Amino acid sequence: TAATVAAGMFTATQAVAAEACDPGEVVIKFSHVVSATGHPKGDFATALAERINNEMNGKACMQVFPSSQLFDDDKVMEALLLGDVQIAAPSLAKFEAYTLKYRVFDLPFLFSDMDAVNKFTQGEKGQELLGAMSDIGFVGLGYVYNGIKHFSANKPLVTPADAAGLKFRVQTSDVAVAMIEAMEANAQKLAFKEVYGALQTGVVDGQENTWSNIYTKKFFEVQDGITETSHQLLSYLAVTSQEWLDSLDPEVRDQFITIFTEVTNDANARSSAINEANKQKIIEAGVEVRTLTPEQRQQWVDVMKPVWGKFADDIGQDVIDAAVAANN
Ligand code: LMR
Repeated sequence: TAATVAAGMFTATQAVAAEACDPGEVVIKFSHVVSATGHPKGDFATALAERINNEMNGKACMQVFPSSQLFDDDKVMEALLLGDVQIAAPSLAKFEAYTLKYRVFDLPFLFSDMDAVNKFTQGEKGQELLGAMSDIGFVGLGYVYNGIKHFSANKPLVTPADAAGLKFRVQTSDVAVAMIEAMEANAQKLAFKEVYGALQTGVVDGQENTWSNIYTKKFFEVQDGITETSHQLLSYLAVTSQEWLDSLDPEVRDQFITIFTEVTNDANARSSAINEANKQKIIEAGVEVRTLTPEQRQQWVDVMKPVWGKFADDIGQDVIDAAVAANN
C-alpha cells in the first residue's frame, strides 16, 4: 500500500485522507479527536500509521481518523466493542463509565512533572492499571502523554477567587467537576469538538487544557488569556478490544505490539517539547500568558487539592500513594 499512503493530503478542514487498504490486510482504524499534526496525540497516530503501513504492508493497514471526524470520545468506546474501530486513545479522564480507578490521573496537583508521570505509569501500579477494564473487554495498550493543563477564561485569572461564579468546560470527569466546584465555579461537561463554539458563544466562560490543545484548536482566540496553573495531567490511554487482539495471528499481533510500544516511547519522549513549542506559538500570537508567583500558585493548590479525599475510595489509597511516591 506504500503508493497509496495519503498522509499529508489535507482538506480545508485538516482532515487527513485515510490510507487505502489492500484486500487481505487487517484493517486497523484509529479514531481520535485532536489535530492530525503538531500535537502529541496527532503526531503519535500519524507516526504509528506510517510505521504499520510501511513495515506490515500486505499484513495490516492502519487508517487514522483525527479531529472527531469519525467518533467523539464517548462513542468511540462503544465503537471499539462493536468492532467499528480497533484503536482509540481517549483522555484518562473519560473512562468513568468503565472504571473509577483512572480517577487517580485527574487528581489536581498530583504529579510534579512528566518524569513523575512516567515513573508512575511505567511502575507496578501504572502497569496494573492497564488492565482495569478487562472485565468489559477493553485492553489498555499503553499510556500516550499529552502534558500538563492550564486554565483560561474570558477574564484574567490570577487567583482561584477570580474563577468564582464562572462556568468552565470540563471533560466527562467527576473529579474535574469537583475541582471546579471547589473554586465556587460551575462545571459543564462537553465533548472536545464543542469547546471552541461554547467558548465563542459564551455557553461557558473558560476551560482548562494543555498548550497543544489550546493552540491547535485555537481556544486562545476566544479567551482573555491563559494562566499557567499547571494543575492537572492530560494523558491518554491507548485502548483496544480483547476480542480484536485475540483475532490476530500471533505473528501479526507481536509485530503490531512491538511497533506500537516503540512509537509510544518515542512520542512520549517528544510530548513536552511539542507542548512547549505550542506555548511559544500562543505567546507569539500576542496572547497573554500569565505566570503565577509561588504564593498565588499555592492558593490554587489549597483550593483544589482537598478534592482528593472524595475519590480515594474509588481509586485505592495504594494507587494514590504510588503516584505521590513517583514525585521523589
Ligand atoms: C479534552 O476533551 O479536552 C481532551 O481530552 C481532548 C484530547 O483528546 O486531548
